Amino acid sequence: MALHELMHVKPAGLMIEGVAAHQLAQTLGTPLYVYSLGRLRANLRRLRAAFEPLSQVEIHYSAKANANLSILRAVLAEGAGIDAVSGGEIFRALSAGADPRAIVYAGAGKTVEEIAYAVEQGIGWFNVENLAELGHLEREAARLGRRVRVALRLNPEVTANTHPYIATGHGGAKFGLTSDAIRQALAEQSRYPHLDFMGLHVHIGSQLGDIGGTVQAVERALELAAPYESLKTVNIGGGFPVPYGPDEQLPAFDAFAQALAPLLRGYRVLLEPGRSIVADIGLLLTRVLYTKYQGGQTIVIVDASMTELIRPALYGAKHAILPLSDLSARGSVQSTQVVGPVCETADVLGRDVPLPPLHEGDLLAILTSGAYGMVMASHYNARPKPAEVVVEGDTWRVARSRERWQDLIAGE
Ligand code: LLP
Repeated sequence: MALHELMHVKPAGLMIEGVAAHQLAQTLGTPLYVYSLGRLRANLRRLRAAFEPLSQVEIHYSAKANANLSILRAVLAEGAGIDAVSGGEIFRALSAGADPRAIVYAGAGKTVEEIAYAVEQGIGWFNVENLAELGHLEREAARLGRRVRVALRLNPEVTANTHPYIATGHGGAKFGLTSDAIRQALAEQSRYPHLDFMGLHVHIGSQLGDIGGTVQAVERALELAAPYESLKTVNIGGGFPVPYGPDEQLPAFDAFAQALAPLLRGYRVLLEPGRSIVADIGLLLTRVLYTKYQGGQTIVIVDASMTELIRPALYGAKHAILPLSDLSARGSVQSTQVVGPVCETADVLGRDVPLPPLHEGDLLAILTSGAYGMVMASHYNARPKPAEVVVEGDTWRVARSRERWQDLIAGE
């Protein structure tokens, strides 16, 4: 998959589908998130095609990656469901028009209020990660006179090949239940007359560097499920990786599907992809405020920061950064540190980025920012959250307006 397939520099400058990034930045200001809905649809279709050989597959897009209503609506229009991790995400999904039965609700710390809301709304699946949670779920289901479908989340004790902050399947992690706890819950099913135990859930992490861990985790889940007649669904989570730079070699959807298909024959399979659907549909546009050369470093201070995109500061993530127009006439590229205005040394958007000499007012794009970008934005340093725009073909529209200072003090 070419990283810049839809985002290419033409003589007119960087384009998102048929719209010039430059025009959006001029019209709407910066920092600005821009998403290609065409690319979102293409990603979902590629995933569906890869998993076609498995007979019963359902995609539940993981809203935590990007929960803008326009993104959720585009996902729903493609026939996918939603993976929600909080009452707030369920509310967002329902606000976007999701059928509650097409929502899976996961989360290591669901409050009783959230559980009650989800049961009342008729959410399709509860991924349960705590035996006490089963008690709350049973009580709320009984009180509301509902039946609830449960997938027990297994902690498979598999260490994912990824950044330690986003690995979830190893023994010491807070996620999931041990296989003993799952067997115990299944042995005590009669204590939960309103719950239908119908599946297992397993998700070992995000941005998975290889397929080995997933295969091992799914094998463990299937071994555990085998003796139970009712466990015919396996939710294998998300985690499909996305290249953030042109040289990254990562397994594609097909590689996961081909390895898993023979194992999962006879099971209904649920997927919860987030990043792989929305990362490469998005970029963050920013403007150069200042430049300086000190300590042997070329430093460019831009108007985006860790408050819009925390991934470089939090995980050391490397996002490609490009000028919106061809600046090669300015001279050769040099190693540049791109930083934001926030009062933290960690507020770096890119270290050692090859960029031409930059001047105040130049526009840059931080690529592959559609996943875990805006959803992780904060108000630190009293910075209003940026606007978001969606592009379809030659048209664009604002999907969330830029916050104003007044929004910062609302509620105080
Ligand atoms: N299902 C479960 C249970 C999850 O915990 C996650 C992600 C997903 C699905 C979606 O995973 P994906 O397909 O996006 O890899 N903020 C981090 C990523 C955190 C992932 C959290 N869980 C980042 O920016 O890299």
